[in-house]
Amino acid sequence: MFIDPNDRKDLGKTGEKVSAIGLGTWNIRDGDRMVEAIVKAVELGLDMVDTAEMYGGGSAEEVVGRAVKKVGRDNIFITTKIMPDRFRDEYMVFKAVEASLKRLGVKEADLILVHWPVEDIPVSRMMHIMERVADKGYTRYIGVSNFGVRHLEEALESLSKYDVVVNQVRYSVLDRSIEDEVLPYMIRNSITVQAYTPLERGMVVKNRKLVEVGRKYGKTSVQVALNYLISHQYVTAIPKTEKVDRVVEFSGALGWRLSEEDLMELKKL
Ligand SMILES: NC(=O)c1ccc[n+]([C@@H]2O[C@H](COP(=O)([O-])OP(=O)(O)OC[C@H]3O[C@@H](n4cnc5c(N)ncnc54)[C@H](OP(=O)(O)O)[C@@H]3O)[C@@H](O)[C@H]2O)c1
Repeated sequence: MFIDPNDRKDLGKTGEKVSAIGLGTWNIRDGDRMVEAIVKAVELGLDMVDTAEMYGGGSAEEVVGRAVKKVGRDNIFITTKIMPDRFRDEYMVFKAVEASLKRLGVKEADLILVHWPVEDIPVSRMMHIMERVADKGYTRYIGVSNFGVRHLEEALESLSKYDVVVNQVRYSVLDRSIEDEVLPYMIRNSITVQAYTPLERGMVVKNRKLVEVGRKYGKTSVQVALNYLISHQYVTAIPKTEKVDRVVEFSGALGWRLSEEDLMELKKL
């Protein structure tokens, strides 16, 4: 297996690099603490944040906006996501994106994703509208989330001017289902993974195998779980925490790699 040693990963075919670990913002309980967590993350080089219009009914984007003011717009890569239902009407997408940007307090996002595919709206329609979103200068890059191979193929075929740079999907050391088809397809097509729920909402913490492997490296189970993901080419991870000490723990997943033997062992979990 090829082990990717890079802590800054290629963003699609853009030539730009992003941090292998960023912060998620779903289910924020305390906005002030989340702002502190994002600021700490940026200080430590984890300068990518993921949010969505859906999270907290828009309040997560406001929290991210407050953090962006503190760290400076140019020092953080912002991903947000638009709900698929909006794509029934192009105007509704523009309005939703404008509202997201207002909550984020920025003129332009770095990356906007379609949150998930829906059966009754063609992927091609979604992609054409996303190209118009980028044309309007609302985002530097576009991408998708929760897309399988069939939807990705349709997306790539329908785009004329922009690339899908990211597919944000569920991926953890305990849920490796994307490794069968989706991940190989994405690597072949140079599409970056943003792995969501990478800690299985805390379940990795007490996993005995992860704890045991971590001991060899002087690392925690969380650090092993994240290192497993970013050892794969084109894979970044977006764990969520609003605790500064856990952000520090995440940053300890960078700067080293599990051995091939241990990676293979973890694939048996
Ligand atoms: N595209 C999509 O459809 C989609 C779906 C789900 C998630 N996402 C994105 O991916 C991000 C991450 O996924 P997630 O939030 O579902 O799950 P996750 O990152 O696997 O887990 C986050 C949860 O684990 C807790 N946690 C973090 N570090 C911990 C530690 N060291 N020990 C114990 N608990 C710990 C956090 O609580 P504390 O805050 O208290 O630390 C939080 O409740 C989301 O926030 C969101 O931005 C996207």
